[in-house]
Amino acid sequence: METIRGKTSHNMDLNGLHARLANYNRITLDLGTGDGKFAFCHAESFPGCFVIGVDSCRENLRELSRATLPNLLYVIASAQALPHELHGLVSHVTINFPWGSLLQSLLDGDPRLMCGLESVLGSGVRLEVRLNGGALAEQGWTLEDGAEQIRENLIYADWKVAKPARMDSHALRNFPSTWARRLAFGRDPRAVELSGNL
Ligand SMILES: C[S@@+](CC[C@H](N)C(=O)[O-])C[C@H]1O[C@@H](n2cnc3c(N)ncnc32)[C@H](O)[C@@H]1O
Repeated sequence: METIRGKTSHNMDLNGLHARLANYNRITLDLGTGDGKFAFCHAESFPGCFVIGVDSCRENLRELSRATLPNLLYVIASAQALPHELHGLVSHVTINFPWGSLLQSLLDGDPRLMCGLESVLGSGVRLEVRLNGGALAEQGWTLEDGAEQIRENLIYADWKVAKPARMDSHALRNFPSTWARRLAFGRDPRAVELSGNL
């Protein structure tokens, strides 16, 4: 799979990945990681957990992917075609403020995303999806209806997912991702959080 550090890509095979993961049994996958800030903060806050930030767009990752935390890796991949090297490894999935095809796949219950996610999971997995009103409006959904549609699709894919919980601007300001802060200070600071487990 393609990993990135600054401007440099590196192909990491299964042996290389397993060597990096050798001392970790908790692995977080941050899907649609953007500039990677949430993945970085999570890795810094939880040194016993290995964090893999995945995004299809490499440009935004150039700066933070230079970080040399032992428990952090950034991967360039599409959410609809997750690398087979990740199979069976992940214990925690976060999807923060998705837009574009990632959000569309959640809304459609796209099997490429849902089955791909299932294939990378280990046991006892936790899922967190945070959604914002503006991104859903661009796809023709209200925040409430879009969140409910995604919840239903996740439940159909066997996740146990609680009712959406509101994130107010205070929660957004304190959430460690670049997009959360942008939303908190922007025109439409409405967001919700879906959390669940398998
Ligand atoms: C609004 S940004 C949020 C970034 C970050 N999670 C945050 O909270 O700051 C949405 C991200 O989803 C990524 N994305 C959209 N479709 C994707 C896909 N199909 N596969 C992987 N990443 C995708 C975009 O490249 C973008 O970085």
